[in-house]
Amino acid sequence: MSTHVPVLQAEVVALLRVRPGGRYLDATIGLGGHAEAILRASAPSGSVLGLDRDAEALALTGRRLAAFGDRLVLRQGRYEAVVDLAGSAGPFDGIFFDLGASSLQLDAAERGFSFTQSGPLDMRMDRGTGETAAELVARLSEPELANLIFEWGEERWSRRIARAIVTARHDRPLATTTDLAAVVARSIPRRLWPRRIHPATRTFQAIRIAVNRELVGLGPALGDAARLLASGGRAAVISFHSLEDRIVKQTWRRLEAEGKVRVVTKRPVTPEPAELAANPRSRSAKLRAVERPPVPPEAA
Ligand SMILES: C[S@@+](CC[C@H](N)C(=O)[O-])C[C@H]1O[C@@H](n2cnc3c(N)ncnc32)[C@H](O)[C@@H]1O
Repeated sequence: MSTHVPVLQAEVVALLRVRPGGRYLDATIGLGGHAEAILRASAPSGSVLGLDRDAEALALTGRRLAAFGDRLVLRQGRYEAVVDLAGSAGPFDGIFFDLGASSLQLDAAERGFSFTQSGPLDMRMDRGTGETAAELVARLSEPELANLIFEWGEERWSRRIARAIVTARHDRPLATTTDLAAVVARSIPRRLWPRRIHPATRTFQAIRIAVNRELVGLGPALGDAARLLASGGRAAVISFHSLEDRIVKQTWRRLEAEGKVRVVTKRPVTPEPAELAANPRSRSAKLRAVERPPVPPEAA
């Protein structure tokens, strides 16, 4: 497993205006890189409530950040249930979402996200529940696979790939990540492979989004987060692909039109060249933030 490098960490701390004693919610704490920066910047008494659906990430992060004591509280669950998970811990001065999968998930062959290392075709962020990628790929019809790969992978070869998957699974189930990656690669003529990414990248993205139901609950969760902000508090989201970024941008715009928040990033914040060079995974990151307008004293 490679070391996890938090993306846009300094920018997140600055945009959230983290201050000593503040209360923060990290809705996707993962390996806790951003949460650690927030805990440091909010010392000595600031707190972070960290959520994640991945029990393994929470266990690791709990151990790694144990020195922060009761300033950090961890809860397992999906951010779609952020209101229940937050309980009475709010309102928060800052709320943060770092979308997608963690390097713990992407790099561990046995989690089944990686097309370069062979592992079981799993891709569940929460291994305690739900259908695996292998089960999904075995169950869907050819048109369902084609639609999914087109819509969530933005893959122009979706029909050919779906056809190849269905043909391959007649012979034997696609059980490993490299089984699936090889079928996808074979279905696209080599001279038409994308130049900068593996030919299976988009298909893996689509299947991962489907297995984890990644996009369906995001908009409502951002709305809930806005309601959990203290007056003058800020929420920030890092997205890694255009489908997520579109939901973030549109949700923030709608909430702004309803007078619930003010967008503070007219354009998304993106990594500086030095970060891009040091961490290639940051290349598609976009950070957007909103502020809950301060409530005038007479209305409070
Ligand atoms: C990009 S990682 C976060 C990395 C983290 N900021 C850090 O510095 O280590 C995203 C995390 O969000 C979690 N996640 C994704 N979708 C989620 C959801 N709907 N609810 C809760 N956690 C989710 C994943 O399990 C993963 O650990």
